[in-house]
Amino acid sequence: MFGNSEMMSILSRVFKQTAPASGQSVGYLKTDMHSHLLPGIDDGVKSFEESIEVITSLQAMGYNKFITTPHIMSDFYRNTPEVIRSLCDELRLELAKSNIDVEIDCAAEYYMDDMFDELLASKSLMTFGDNNVLVETSYLNPVSNLKETFFNMQMAGYQPVLAHPERYVFMYSDFEQYNDIFGRDVLFALNLGSFVGYYSKESKKIIEKLVKNKMVHFIGSDIHNMRLIPHFQRAIQTSAYQQCSAYKLINNSL
Ligand SMILES: [Fe+2]
Repeated sequence: MFGNSEMMSILSRVFKQTAPASGQSVGYLKTDMHSHLLPGIDDGVKSFEESIEVITSLQAMGYNKFITTPHIMSDFYRNTPEVIRSLCDELRLELAKSNIDVEIDCAAEYYMDDMFDELLASKSLMTFGDNNVLVETSYLNPVSNLKETFFNMQMAGYQPVLAHPERYVFMYSDFEQYNDIFGRDVLFALNLGSFVGYYSKESKKIIEKLVKNKMVHFIGSDIHNMRLIPHFQRAIQTSAYQQCSAYKLINNSL
């Protein structure tokens, strides 16, 4: 039987084996704007220890700032800005205690449901950068009021940022839907893992098409735990990812 500290030490050694070798850099990205690094409030990390493990692994790849974005979703994660900000403060303290020099900020990833409409109406959405609001919708089912919601956000002074557009299966059969949303000044935040098909083969095809058509404003890690780290090491070597270095991504101006 192992004690807690022995177990942490073993886990730490295991994690280090999957962490990137020094010098293996994520390249042009310095700021990540999509992640689940606050413990216990969504399906992301489960503890501050795990959060720190993830952050230091990404830091070793070249990131120096994280805007973490816990889920806000009426069915599962009814998180409030107060809870998110308070946990973000705690995470900063934990990082400082471990002498880890990294910038942490927070916003949210909103699922566009009825609760989102209420928060939008009361203008109490969490933003990052220039009034950007990260949103997601159902992967499988087209939402009838999607475009109306984007419009309402813009009318309220928010800039919609669609998380992982390459993951919405209901749009796969008609790429024109991507053109339409892109043309409505909705920003696209692609997931780093999609460059190697971490979520599906189809999402890899879509992301390659989005990149080819220069339909990318951000690239986010959307990291939930350590499992994605080895995939990121391959993702940054893909030609599609390299191609994005020529685009003016917004990440590093956040
Ligand atoms: Fe996410």
